[in-house]
Amino acid sequence: MTCENPDFSFASKKPGTYSAPTIDNIFVQEWKIHHVDSKTRTPWKTKSGGYLEVLFHLPWNLVQRVISSTYEPEELANMPEGFDIRGLRGYSVMNIPEDKIGGLEFHRIRHEIIYSLGGEVEWRFEDVYGKMKEILLSGDKVIYFPPLIKHDYWTPKNSGGSLGVFCNTLFNPLDKITQDTYSAEIFEGLKKKFEN
Ligand SMILES: [Fe+2]
Repeated sequence: MTCENPDFSFASKKPGTYSAPTIDNIFVQEWKIHHVDSKTRTPWKTKSGGYLEVLFHLPWNLVQRVISSTYEPEELANMPEGFDIRGLRGYSVMNIPEDKIGGLEFHRIRHEIIYSLGGEVEWRFEDVYGKMKEILLSGDKVIYFPPLIKHDYWTPKNSGGSLGVFCNTLFNPLDKITQDTYSAEIFEGLKKKFEN
């Protein structure tokens, strides 16, 4: 069943059973992304005649932040009965135009790792206390960030950015609530709960 206008009212509520992560929980790892390096770029032709393309290769200390992360029970309780949002998912965002801003969103369950697939992408993160951090993502670093961190991104002039994402949630395209994605406007409502 398609749910076009789900009730997102829970998304601006202060967590009751755990502390909200902050920008200090964002983790940056220096890491050469070989498959965006000009010398080692895939695809490679294999013995089978098919082409091998590296989707990602990430170090354990980063991967474990996503694989071993906690799924907060109070957040899982907002998902539809019978749908298990837990899992592993990867996707790419290619050729980001210079005049657009992506993201403008936050999640309540999803932990994400982002890595470059070419060029540069500027990321801006904000926590529920209003503290911000900007990080330029390129082929020599990988970034991890937890839920409840709003994130926006854009590609700087002439840098032609593309990126990959590795995260710990699945979604049902027919049910918006399972996307676990909430707007900047809802984030402002959440921030208000942390004032004082
Ligand atoms: Fe996201």
